[in-house]
Amino acid sequence: MEVLPLGPGFAAEIRGVSMSEVATRDDAYRAVRAAFEEHSVLVFRDQPVSDDLQVAYSRRFGPLEIAKAASRGEGTPFSILTNVEADGSLVPQGHKEELRARANQLWHTDSCFKIPPALASVLSGRTVAATGGETEFTSMRLAWERLPADLRRRLDNAYAWHDYAHSRGKIATHLASERERSTMPAVCWRMRWRNPVNGRDALYIASHTCRIEGMDTTEALQLIDELTALATRPEHVYQHRWRNGDVVMWDNRATLHRGRPWPLNEPRYMIRTTISATDADGLASMWPQRNAA
Ligand code: OGA
Ligand code: MN
Repeated sequence: MEVLPLGPGFAAEIRGVSMSEVATRDDAYRAVRAAFEEHSVLVFRDQPVSDDLQVAYSRRFGPLEIAKAASRGEGTPFSILTNVEADGSLVPQGHKEELRARANQLWHTDSCFKIPPALASVLSGRTVAATGGETEFTSMRLAWERLPADLRRRLDNAYAWHDYAHSRGKIATHLASERERSTMPAVCWRMRWRNPVNGRDALYIASHTCRIEGMDTTEALQLIDELTALATRPEHVYQHRWRNGDVVMWDNRATLHRGRPWPLNEPRYMIRTTISATDADGLASMWPQRNAA
């Protein structure tokens, strides 16, 4: 297996090992798992991706999430991100899927608003946009390490709340439906996720973060915005330009990502599988103390 660094201090392309080898061989899985723990974003090129292969690959890393209420793919392990309707037509501006794509263009980590949150996401480009539609990543480990020491100390024992409706609300007031709100109430996690394999800490915030325990909400939201802006300065970002057959996997504990816009008259069809975090992934120390409000 070859690991080719791609980004500024994180992200790598995997060569010489295919997704189907990871699915079927322990040694291949172990090598790719180690690269995942180390590099946070892994890129596979020219994969013969199918739904079955994507599930078999993803399943190696842990239990799969079932797509959330009211999403394309609800009740299956597949989250479908697309502007293509079931009948092949493209959605118009202002359509729910277009608004969702816009919400995905805010820097975030997947499923921090869920219990359990996500360890990793595996995104396959089934029809990639001819122009735009890139996905961008930043390392929240490097962001953590760059924080001034006093702020890092303050955040080391801090807890924040995450709410799906909060990030959707930034795009359109009613983008999160009643059903989404009632099935996904806000959840609270520690703001620093320690990787149990290498001991490295990452700042755990996202577009979904709606308040910080014990802090005035306006101040907290301002701090989240500042932390996000610092973490995502252009020089810290890896931009993935999709080719058909690409599969990108990322560590939701240690990265932020966002989609980039593409022309609405071009089809884009992406399928994501999401792996839930377990205690073995460091989740055990993410829970708020019992006495937290
Ligand atoms: C995702 C996501 C961005 C994109 O799949 O979780 O945010 O570029 N995707 O489609
Ligand atoms: Mn996402």
